[in-house]
Amino acid sequence: MNSISTCLSSSSSSSSGTNSKALIVHGLLATAAIAGGAYVAISLCRTSKFRSRVIGIIPARFASTRFEGKPLVPILGKPMIQRTWERAKMATTLDHIVVATDDEKIAECCRGFGADVIMTSESCRNGTERCNEALLKLEKKYDVVVNIQGDEPLIEPEIIDGIVKALQGAPDAVFSTAVTSLKPEDGHDPNRVKCVVDNQGYAIYFSRGLIPFNKSGQVNPKFPYLLHLGIQSYDTKFLRIYPDLPPTPLQLEEDLEQLKVLENGYKMKVIKVDHDAHGVDTPEDVEKIESLMRERNIS
Ligand SMILES: *[C@@H]1O[C@H](CO)[C@@H](O)[C@H](O)[C@H]1NC(C)=O
Ligand SMILES: *[C@@H]1O[C@H](CO)[C@@H](O)[C@H](O)[C@H]1NC(C)=O
Repeated sequence: MNSISTCLSSSSSSSSGTNSKALIVHGLLATAAIAGGAYVAISLCRTSKFRSRVIGIIPARFASTRFEGKPLVPILGKPMIQRTWERAKMATTLDHIVVATDDEKIAECCRGFGADVIMTSESCRNGTERCNEALLKLEKKYDVVVNIQGDEPLIEPEIIDGIVKALQGAPDAVFSTAVTSLKPEDGHDPNRVKCVVDNQGYAIYFSRGLIPFNKSGQVNPKFPYLLHLGIQSYDTKFLRIYPDLPPTPLQLEEDLEQLKVLENGYKMKVIKVDHDAHGVDTPEDVEKIESLMRERNIS
């Protein structure tokens, strides 16, 4: 028990008195144990730097109900997946980046611009499952997986690094993700997922509805609402069990996969970043993002 708490407290950034800190650490440990996550914290104490081996995985599938062949759509002349990959390459915390796909055309395109590709099966139901399958097929072992959505071609490398560092700095969390300011006009848009966090930056809840909900029923222009960004990272031990955790009631009701994490009692660290989300979901989004890139002189 001693070595565990030493390890946990040395990686905690808190500088409060040792007694209260030890209490907090044991509290965290108990919480993690209840959540079934204690083994994650314990086993990782063996490596010198906590959660140091990091891989970025870009899951990409060809078939999509809304946008067939989306990863290959040219954005100012370059395939979208290449733009995402080039951004990810600039992150300093990733040891390795791979594209995980079920499609030979995507694979060929990615190898063409120099990416490593892992073929995954068509039966993967979502990006998380695809990441997990890719991880199992890799020879090397990793502590952290960053799931980099292929449809955010303007993702900042700093956000990738930010969520990796957040997970490395929060041994009691198994998952980390990012939020940015929600535009008031998006308050009632169910496609914009809102998030509320506690005062340590751990996620409390995600919703397609407006949270918190002002008593007046209106969006409060003064409240700092948070918009969830699709990027996330996981402890690899957690990723191995995540896809197989049975669906949970809130997850099903909101159709938000990440709620399964919280409903099972796991902790999720959230970082706040300054970022305009420019996800590409439809062919119309391509034009929007291209004109924005022209405006900002991104080529
Ligand atoms: C709700 O929003 C209004 C501004 O629209 C704000 O003045 C008020 O403090 C908020 N909270 C409650 C409980 O009304
Ligand atoms: C992926 O999607 C399936 C089907 O919607 C769901 O049951 C599963 O929980 C999802 N994967 C994860 C990791 O949540």
